[in-house]
Amino acid sequence: MSQNTIKPWHEVAPHLSQVALGKAPADLVITNVQWVNVQSREIIPDTDIAIAEGRFAYCGSNAKHCVGTDTDILNGEGKYIIPGFCDAHMHIESGMLTPARFTEAVAPHGTTTLFADPHEMANVMGLEGIRLMYNEAVLQPINIYLQVPSCVPSFPGFEDAGSELNVADIAGFIDQSNIIGLGEMMDFLGVINGDSKLFGEMAVTRLVGKTIGGHYPSPDLGNHFHAYLAGGPADDHEGTREIDAIERARRGMRTMLRLGSAWYDVEKQITAVTEKGLDPRNFILCTDDCDAATLLHDGHMDRVVRHAIECGCKPLVALQMATINTATHFGLERELGSISPGRRADFILTGDLTELPIDLVYAYGRKVGEEGQFVGTLMPLDWPAGMKQTVRVKQPIDANQFEINPPRGNNSVTLKTHVIGIIENQAPTKLLEIDLDVKDGLVEGDEDKDVCQIALVERHKSSGTVINGFVSGFGYKGNMALASTIGHDSHHMIVVGTSRDDMALAANKLIQTNGGITLWRDGQQRGLVELPIAGLLSDAPPSEVASDLIQLRNEMVNCGCNLNNAFMQHTLLALLVIPEIRISNKGIFDVTKAEFVDLFIK
Ligand SMILES: [Fe+2]
Repeated sequence: MSQNTIKPWHEVAPHLSQVALGKAPADLVITNVQWVNVQSREIIPDTDIAIAEGRFAYCGSNAKHCVGTDTDILNGEGKYIIPGFCDAHMHIESGMLTPARFTEAVAPHGTTTLFADPHEMANVMGLEGIRLMYNEAVLQPINIYLQVPSCVPSFPGFEDAGSELNVADIAGFIDQSNIIGLGEMMDFLGVINGDSKLFGEMAVTRLVGKTIGGHYPSPDLGNHFHAYLAGGPADDHEGTREIDAIERARRGMRTMLRLGSAWYDVEKQITAVTEKGLDPRNFILCTDDCDAATLLHDGHMDRVVRHAIECGCKPLVALQMATINTATHFGLERELGSISPGRRADFILTGDLTELPIDLVYAYGRKVGEEGQFVGTLMPLDWPAGMKQTVRVKQPIDANQFEINPPRGNNSVTLKTHVIGIIENQAPTKLLEIDLDVKDGLVEGDEDKDVCQIALVERHKSSGTVINGFVSGFGYKGNMALASTIGHDSHHMIVVGTSRDDMALAANKLIQTNGGITLWRDGQQRGLVELPIAGLLSDAPPSEVASDLIQLRNEMVNCGCNLNNAFMQHTLLALLVIPEIRISNKGIFDVTKAEFVDLFIK
């Protein structure tokens, strides 16, 4: 059994009761703290807290009666004690780290509970990938609950992911402990249109009393919205406007307010509470997607809580949104999310409720974070070799595989071409029509028009498929290429570049490293983040991954790209569920029309 496990409350309840009574000694007593009580939303000064068996046993004015000869005493020096933070919706894969390494990155920031949807891993490695994520997650010294991904692949019929999940797959997994429910139901059109597979997935989740995650990105709050709600999803983190928050909360759909590395959805929606006065207990904070650099340098849920406070939310209300509201939503209020007798002893000591310095972090009554450093015990899996050989591409890739020929028999010197247009700070793309020159029999990108090449290299079945197209908006200049095996949601290899030679070098580098991200310029490697596990994750220390990622981003800037979150834009270019135009392993896809289009316009 892992040293990081915790016994169920009922098993230790007699002992906790005796500790509270003073007839058995506590393992740890924290004296002289200000108890931030998220149950009653008040601060109670001069409090002592006694802990035994990893759970709170006594919370009151004086815990001297709980102290025995072997009890550890921690003087809280008048600091605030707050519950450890819960991230209500997130993807560990966005940190590019294994669950163990992710724990190492976020525990010092006060995060003691994750509700994680291993959607990316599932798209590459299916049930086996989910199982391994689960197996590692439950060994760690913080609470990691997983959701079973609902939409694998995201857009059936129009792309081939590395795997497919059906209702039976989900039914076989959903009842396990530490599986909290069904992952975000992204295919909202499928729900609205009565897709029987999706309703089957939601039914098996409800039958075991678990939570169906929502994902409704449409601004339409008419009948489509009502149909989606009636279909079953219980929460949503895709709202961006105050009205989105209000309409969800009114209908019992928990409103998740998201601050990720690239998502800024708290400020616009939290006014539903701060200005419109809605009951905050139905509002929850989450991150969805944070990369390793954000986690290391800006924080995790502590960053979200600070931001909510900056946006005008009262500190105690913001803390409820990151603790007890989340626990209540998932049916875990009696287990975690507050400093109350019997709950898991997950807590933070901080000297200030606005600036929120994270001085000490405990989970299960054991110290896991101290002044920004992880001090707990990680229990990493030995990831099997098969998980590290997932870039299945016929090799080597040759530059001529990225050549784009004009239509047969066409002798024009320019061709009107469908181009994927990046939109700054937004996930949707624009379907552009741009005239491109034909030179030496090949259609070429155009630096002056900010058009370069994009290629999707199929990487799951070694089919040899390379789909070529054009993309605009990165601002790349000179000879360069950026390749990545992160490519939402099917996670084929996406290569963007101005030079076919560099594109080939970058692609071949990722075949050699079994996945990652690499930037090449003038035939030289300028950046590399190795992600050998499923081409998505690293088991290297978070600081190494963050520093490689920062270097890679700096090199993107050196190549002329000044977009915010340019790498995220790169990874979303194959995400077929968001308009207007994307690339899949089956061709260039017009999302609005839900059909493939020719590259060239006749
Ligand atoms: Fe998500």
